[in-house]
Amino acid sequence: MWEKGIFPSRFIVYIMTISMFLLIVSYVFLLQFGNTSLIPQSVFKLILLNGTSVYLKPNVKNEQIKLPFLSSESSQVDAQIRLKNGESPCQKSSYGKKMCSSWQQNIKSCDTNQALLRVFMYDLPSEFHFGLLGWKGKSNQMWPEVNDPSRIPLYPGGLNLQHSMEYWLTLDLLSSNTPNVLRPCAAIRVKNSSQADVIFVPFFSSLSYNRHSKLRGKEKVSVNKKLQNKLVQFLTMQNEWKRFGGKDHLIVAHHPNSMLDARWKLGSAMFVLADFGRYPTEIANLEKDIITPYKHVVRTTPSADSAPFDKRPILVFFQGAIYRKDGGAIRQELYYLLKDEKDVHFAFGTIQGNGVNQARQGMATSKFCLNIAGDTPSSNRLFDAIVSHCVPVIISDKIELPFEDVIDYSEFCVYVRASDAVKKGYLLNLLRGIKRDQWTKMWEKLKEIVPHFQYQYPSQPCDAVDMIWQAVARKVPSIQFRIHRENRYRRAAQIK
Ligand SMILES: *[C@@H]1O[C@H](CO)[C@@H](O)[C@H](O)[C@H]1NC(C)=O
Ligand SMILES: *[C@@H]1O[C@H](CO)[C@@H](O)[C@H](O)[C@H]1NC(C)=O
Repeated sequence: MWEKGIFPSRFIVYIMTISMFLLIVSYVFLLQFGNTSLIPQSVFKLILLNGTSVYLKPNVKNEQIKLPFLSSESSQVDAQIRLKNGESPCQKSSYGKKMCSSWQQNIKSCDTNQALLRVFMYDLPSEFHFGLLGWKGKSNQMWPEVNDPSRIPLYPGGLNLQHSMEYWLTLDLLSSNTPNVLRPCAAIRVKNSSQADVIFVPFFSSLSYNRHSKLRGKEKVSVNKKLQNKLVQFLTMQNEWKRFGGKDHLIVAHHPNSMLDARWKLGSAMFVLADFGRYPTEIANLEKDIITPYKHVVRTTPSADSAPFDKRPILVFFQGAIYRKDGGAIRQELYYLLKDEKDVHFAFGTIQGNGVNQARQGMATSKFCLNIAGDTPSSNRLFDAIVSHCVPVIISDKIELPFEDVIDYSEFCVYVRASDAVKKGYLLNLLRGIKRDQWTKMWEKLKEIVPHFQYQYPSQPCDAVDMIWQAVARKVPSIQFRIHRENRYRRAAQIK
C-alpha cells in the first residue's frame, strides 16, 4: 500500500526539483545574457587630438635630487609627489606602509640582486617605439638617452596620453640602467634574458593604433597592421619566446583596439590592459594579465586645495558621450532619470580642449562622479574623478580595476549594480543617504591613493609605474606554476 502512495509523491518531488533547477539555470543565463549586452563589441572611433601637453621641468644636471622630471602635471603637484630622501607620499596610505617603505632603502643603489623584478627588454627597431614619436637615434643608437630630458622624445598629448603607459614603462626600464636617475627599485633591466623574470616587448601599440591605423597614400596595409605582423614574426622566432611559449612576455595593449590583429597569436603572453571588454577569456583574463590605470586627462587637484563636503555644491557629476552603442544604453536611461534633478550635472559630449578644464572644475566641485559603462567597461573618467577627489560611483558590472589585490576600492568608491541604478529614485536616494562624515572618510582616502595613479618620469615609489611592476612581480609565481606544469611530461618526452 505505501509503495503506491510514496512513488507518485517522490516523483512529484523529482519533477519539482528539476523544474526549479531549470528555472534557476535559465534565470542565471538570462542575467548573463543581459550583462553581455553591457560589454560592447563595437569598434568606436577615437577622436585624435594633436598637441603636446607633456610638461618638461627645467633640469639641473648631476645632482641626484634634482632629477630630470617629466610629467603632465603642474609643477605644484610635481613638488608634492617628488621623492625626498627616504620619504614618499604613499607611506601615508595603508598599501604604501606595507609595500612601499621596504623599497626606500634600496632606492639610492638599485642593482640586479635588490630589484623585485628582473626584466629583459628586446632591442626592437625604433619604428616600434620611439620612432613613432619621431625620434631618430644616431647610428648604432638603439634607445634615447634618458638621463637628459631634452633628448627624451615627448609622447603626444590630448587623449593619446590616456594610454601612454607603454611609454612610461619603457622609459623606466631604460632609466634603471642609468646611474644618475633616482627611481624605485621594483624593476631592473637585465641584458641577459636567461636571468630575467619577464621579457618586456617595447611596442607602443596604443600610439600605433591611434596614429597609424588609417591607410595613407598608396598603402594597402596600415602601418599599425604592418607593425603588428612584423612583431608576431619577430617574437615567434625568438628563443626567449620559444622557451616558454611566450608566457613570460609582457605586452602593453592598453587601448582596447590596439594589437587587434596580433593579440590572437600572442595570447599566451601577459597583457597590460585597460579592461577585458574586447577580449575573449582565452586570450585575456585576470589570472595572467595586468589591469592598469588610464593616465588621467584632468589636472590633479592638490590635496591642500581640495574642496571638502560643504564646498562641493553638485551632488552628482557626469560628463561623457550619452548615446552609446551596446552597453552604453544605460547612460541614456540614467540621463532621463537624472536630468531634471537640481544638484545633478549630467552633460553630453566628450572632453576635449577647454572641456578638459571644465570637467576638472566640475569634478572638483562635485561630491560624487558617475562612471557608467560605455563602449568599454572602463574609461579614464574614473581616474579623472580620483585625482579630483570626487567619490567615484561605479555603474559598470564588468569593470576590472587596477591593483585590486592590494587596493580596496570600496573604501573610496560606491558600487551600484546597473540593474539597481536604473530603478527610479534608487541612485539619488543612495547618494543623498551618504552623509558628510561617511563621505569625508572616502575623500580622505582618495587623497591618499592618488599617487598610485600618477605616471611620471622618473618613476616615484608607489606611483603607477612602480605599482605596475609590483603587480607584474606578483604574477611571476603563477607564470612559473603554469610553466612547471607544462614541463611535467615534456621533459620526459625529450629524454626518450
Ligand atoms: C600633429 O603634430 C605633428 C607633430 O607636432 C605635426 O607634424 C602635424 O602636422 C600635426 N598634425 C595636425 C593635423 O595638426
Ligand atoms: C646568461 O646567463 C646565463 C645563466 O646565468 C649564463 O649561463 C650565460 O653565460 C649568460 N650569457 C651571457 C652572454 O652572459
